[in-house]
Amino acid sequence: MIAPAPADDVADEAHLQLNADGSLRHLLTLQGLSRALMVELLDAADRYLSPPGQPVVRSEALRGRTVANLFFEPSTRTRASFDLAAKRLGADVLNLDVNTSSRKKGESILDTMYTLEAMRVDVMVVRDASAGVPAFIARNIGDYVSILNAGEADVSHPTQGLLDVLTIRRHKPDIGNLTVAIVGDIDHSRVARSAGQALTTLGVGELRLVSPPAMAPNPDDVPGAVILDNLEQGLKNADVVMALRIQRERIGNLDGIPGIDEYFANYGISHERMRLAKPDAIVMHPGPMNRGIEIESSLADSEASVITEQVTNGVAVRMAVLERVAASLEQP
Ligand code: CP
Repeated sequence: MIAPAPADDVADEAHLQLNADGSLRHLLTLQGLSRALMVELLDAADRYLSPPGQPVVRSEALRGRTVANLFFEPSTRTRASFDLAAKRLGADVLNLDVNTSSRKKGESILDTMYTLEAMRVDVMVVRDASAGVPAFIARNIGDYVSILNAGEADVSHPTQGLLDVLTIRRHKPDIGNLTVAIVGDIDHSRVARSAGQALTTLGVGELRLVSPPAMAPNPDDVPGAVILDNLEQGLKNADVVMALRIQRERIGNLDGIPGIDEYFANYGISHERMRLAKPDAIVMHPGPMNRGIEIESSLADSEASVITEQVTNGVAVRMAVLERVAASLEQP
């Protein structure tokens, strides 16, 4: 279950990720990131996109730098896109196989990080199932290393939040007039939390969080959002609908959690249900997707779906973030 981070911790992380001049040193959370910095990152990501069929955009911004991907939880999209993003910026990339690393022999996470720091890794991209790990490393690592949060328990997934708002902005730039419905297992979702933070910072018109009661967030944790358990109400006149996976790996007690058929019957996003949304509404999903459970398979492949664009935009967002932190690495 999502436990809101204590206010002091959130403020500390927001402070920790910035240099004294306000530039980005680490990316730990979207909470507290200024609108101006968020827009700068989105604008930079836009410049890293090229039309389909054209060569990808490359730069030398990370030439001579080394980026390490340290994924202590499974990933397809985030890990592959950080890998490609770093390579397209000219970095050396290390994808540590954590299953064969010395953490399996009892080495602490900090000793693993210090070992990589000694090999002159400049940027560590970290995914971990425990809350607080990216900030813990950022507090303890040396002055010339940047930590990027690539998914932290059910707490935070900042580059996912950025790629989600980039995708929305490219289709519907007037964010202040949008109604966005995020549907599914909100309580266990780092994606919902980070997307919600990004949308709120950008001044979204209305943010609806729709879920079965057993998967609803604590209202104090999502200030300003409309929390609903009725899907029809949640979808009515929405401009953007984002479906989420049920994160069974994070659910300790399955009491009240619907089975697959019951879930699709009551909360699955289908063509028929999308008729409640605006006619030009877009459909999103962060992946990995369970077709036929949270989303009708043919809807995921339909004209309304921007799911593959989210993946494309993820590489551009990660290039923008890497470029930004690399630019600040020389400041102790
Ligand atoms: N959306 C997302 O984080 O996907 P992966 O788990 O595949 O990285």
